[in-house]
Formats: sequence, C-alpha cells, structure tokens
Amino acid sequence: MAPSEQESDSILPCHAGIIMDGNGRWAKSRGKSRLEGHKQGAEVARNVVRWAADLGIQQLSLYAFSTENWERPRLEVRGLMSLLAVLLPKTLPEMADNQVRFRILGDISPLPNNVQKAVQQACEATARHTGIEVIICLNYGGQQEIVAAVRDALQWANAQADPQQAMAELTPERFRQMMWRHDIAPLDLLIRTGGEMRISNFHLWDAAYAELYFTDVFWPDFTRHDLQLALDAYASRERRYGRTSEQVCN
Ligand code: FPP
Repeated sequence: MAPSEQESDSILPCHAGIIMDGNGRWAKSRGKSRLEGHKQGAEVARNVVRWAADLGIQQLSLYAFSTENWERPRLEVRGLMSLLAVLLPKTLPEMADNQVRFRILGDISPLPNNVQKAVQQACEATARHTGIEVIICLNYGGQQEIVAAVRDALQWANAQADPQQAMAELTPERFRQMMWRHDIAPLDLLIRTGGEMRISNFHLWDAAYAELYFTDVFWPDFTRHDLQLALDAYASRERRYGRTSEQVCN
C-alpha cells in the first residue's frame, strides 16, 4: 500500500455519525412534498452506507428519527415510518453484498408494529455480517439515553454494600457501561447537513470528543464528494482530548 493511502487509512474516523438534515427544505425548493424529500434522503442514506463501507469506516450512525420528531405533523411521521418499513427489507440483499451489520439505537417499542418487525428482521438478517456496523438511531434521544443510564446506575449502586459510596466512586467509564449501546465506539466525527449548527440530542455522551463538521448541503444532495470533504476536514483536525498540542505531537 502506498504511504499516502496508509496515512489516510489511519486517520479515518472509526465511528462517524450523521444528522441527515435538510430533506424538507430540499423538497420545498423543488415544489415537492416533505415526504418526497425524506424518500430522496433515504436513497442517499443507502448510498452513504456503501460509500462509508468502501472507505473502511467501521461504524456509521444515522439519525433517522429522534424522540422529538414525534412532534411533527402526523402525516409526516406516518410517512417516515412507512418509508422505514418498506425500505429496510428492500436494502437487505445489498447490505449482504457489502457485509453491512444493522444495529438500532433507541427505544423502538412505541414504533408501529410493521416498523418494529422490519427493524428487527434487518438486525437479525445482518447480525453475522462482518463489515461496517450501521447504527440506525430510531426514536433516539441522547438525554433520554443518559437518564436511563442514571436509573441503571442507581439500581446498581443500591445493590452494592454501600450504595452512597458506590455512587461517589462512579467513574465516567463505569457509567458509560450503563448506556444503551456501550459496545459502540465513542463518536469520532459528527456530520450535520442542512446548514444548522447544533447537535439536536444526538449521541450526547459519546460526542464529548467528536469532531464536528457542518455543511450547508441539504441531505438529499449529499454526494460521495461531500463525504470525502468531511473526512478530509476530520483528517486535518488535531484531536487533543484536553492535552496540549505539544503533548499530542510528541
Ligand atoms: C431531517 O430533515 C430529517 C429527518 C428528521 C429524517 C431523516 C430520515 C431519512 C433520511 C430517511 C430514512 C433513513 C433511513 C436510515 C432509512 P428535515 O425534515 O428536518 O429537513 P428540514 O430541516 O429541511 O425541514
């Protein structure tokens, strides 16, 4: 392998997450319905999985539906749900070719039965695949995830001989073990399309040291080149984790 390839391999994010924003505005600017924007966005989500797999990214989180998205018009929520129920089974042959393993982050129990079934089948059908892990964040909220971990931590502490001391000695590392998907790596790169500069309750705990990348491109227009631009930006960042530049370089 050429040195430059080696170098770019070594600075790929292990775990990249995407807030796929701008579907509605993309649709509006074309006189289409918001759902048309989500449909086009879903096509791009399918493509981005392939591009990320090709590039060697190990984990990719896609924010498909947040805990706050229930507040959207009922018709849009229903449309998003049926999009998932229809699309997930359709993508399975392609996911097998690329050895994609689907995982879910979030509480899927309030989702319509057909969506829960499609999601569970997608996870089961791909469970033995050895390639990229695609984490679909569905009815996911970072604050909710942290609150659930706090509840688990209290329960765990109460089962210890000295609960108060157990809580006093609780470390961030131990606490992280109580998060929903603690076996997923912390987020290295968070990409948000659509021009807004916020995290919107996505991977709150695990974005602590993520590099943030914002682009004005609406999600349905996002291309492989746009992904490469985000990866190039990531590769140019110095990740210091609280240390000085000199410490990191030596
Ligand atoms: C934000 O755009 C997008 C969403 C809330 C939904 C994202 C869902 C998809 C891309 C489709 C399904 C995904 C998978 C993984 C199968 P917005 O509607 O807030 O856009 P706007 O800010 O322009 O209104």
